[in-house]
Amino acid sequence: MSLLVKNGHIVTAESDYYGDIYIEGEKIVAIGKDLPHEAERIIDATNRLVFPGGIDPHVHLDMPFMGTYSSDDYFTGTRAALHGGTTMVIDFILQTQGDSLRNALTTWQGKSKDKAVCDYSYHMAVTDFNDDVAQEVVEMIKTEGITSFKTFMAYKGALMIDDGQMVQLMKVVKKHGGIVTVHATNGDMIDSLIAKHRAQGKLSPLYHYRSQPEVTEAEASGRFADMLHYTGCRGYIVHMTCEGALNAVRRATLRNQKVLVETCTQYLVLDASLYEKDFDGAKWVMSPPLREKKDQTALWSGINQGLIQVVGTDHCPFMWEQKLMGKDDFSKIPNGHPAIEHRMELLFSEGVNKGKISLNKFVEVSSTNAAKIFGMYPYKGTISIGADADLVIFDPIKKHTLSVETHHMNVDYSAYEGWELTGKTETVVLRGHVVIENETCTVEKGFGQFVKRKPMN
Ligand code: URP
Ligand code: ZN
Ligand code: ZN
Repeated sequence: MSLLVKNGHIVTAESDYYGDIYIEGEKIVAIGKDLPHEAERIIDATNRLVFPGGIDPHVHLDMPFMGTYSSDDYFTGTRAALHGGTTMVIDFILQTQGDSLRNALTTWQGKSKDKAVCDYSYHMAVTDFNDDVAQEVVEMIKTEGITSFKTFMAYKGALMIDDGQMVQLMKVVKKHGGIVTVHATNGDMIDSLIAKHRAQGKLSPLYHYRSQPEVTEAEASGRFADMLHYTGCRGYIVHMTCEGALNAVRRATLRNQKVLVETCTQYLVLDASLYEKDFDGAKWVMSPPLREKKDQTALWSGINQGLIQVVGTDHCPFMWEQKLMGKDDFSKIPNGHPAIEHRMELLFSEGVNKGKISLNKFVEVSSTNAAKIFGMYPYKGTISIGADADLVIFDPIKKHTLSVETHHMNVDYSAYEGWELTGKTETVVLRGHVVIENETCTVEKGFGQFVKRKPMN
């Protein structure tokens, strides 16, 4: 199959220009002005932006969590991702404490195989580190192409590891060229605040927010940076929300240290006033919680200063029925919100259109940097000869409204109901195949491929 995308405004992290992209099979073969190539299919991209398929490196599909499962599985979640212009996701495998990484991998392969429609990879969450797991970490990097290891400094008793385990993990991961990623909040401080609020009968979603003040994230982010500095390991902080945590990373730069950072769309565009809406606030109960307007400003600035490299979603949807598990106690509300579908359009509409980031920065944080950080560049994350033909053809002036009535995620409310956006994903190409057109996903379950990643040394 050959495909010619003509007359588009092509945008990469480094440049933008008008031209054509010629694709043969799954790869980009030629890029230029008025290409002479004949193709089986031609897409006219006049007045459209053409950028690399989005990469969301933070999603939770069909994940067991807080007594239930996130409501998007690999089919519905990756289909929603494609509708929004994300052509690859990285999901989290969770090791069960006391069990092996291998068993966890087998479980996640069962969830994804024959179901995914966009490309995908896994981060391996190490929730219980010991000598056997150290061996498995090496195996994951060398034979499975899983090079990133997620850790939790919170959720004690289920997912959290202690600092001793963290340092040992970092040493092994560094030796074999991987990266350690972290949910950086101080679990013990949070648990004691949760206990205090529950004892006082303060049980509404607002107290989820009040149990995780900024200091809990700033402290853990600084501690993680210190452990990285001590071990020399590469590290990445997921879902950063606030100025205090960003300042911890900024301080690390003073000793010539680079700690990689991801924020998520919700922390850029939503704020904690949503928790004042009684139980409706449960829609935004996630960890860390939404913060203040001043934190949004800090995060947008952090993106432009190069301190934040990636914008993901932490997509972890739950049906309203599942959120009701915490009706009488905020600590039982499953943490997470639906977002996988809206990341690119929200970032474009709220970021590019409102003058907060440039078009090139948009591509950098929505695609290119994730590919670079997680060992997939340049075959993912850019538009260049030889790269996978993963493209988004985007109408920059089309207005649309986000709603549960029209989204494709398997969740019965929208966290962005009624939001009016400018800029819409029109056509999506994944490895040379048109996968979204006319608002329809045209590929079957199982089209998405697992992407093996390379270590960095
Ligand atoms: O609230 C969240 N973020 N849920 C998913 C798990 C995590 O901490 O990323
Ligand atoms: Zn987390
Ligand atoms: Zn997460």
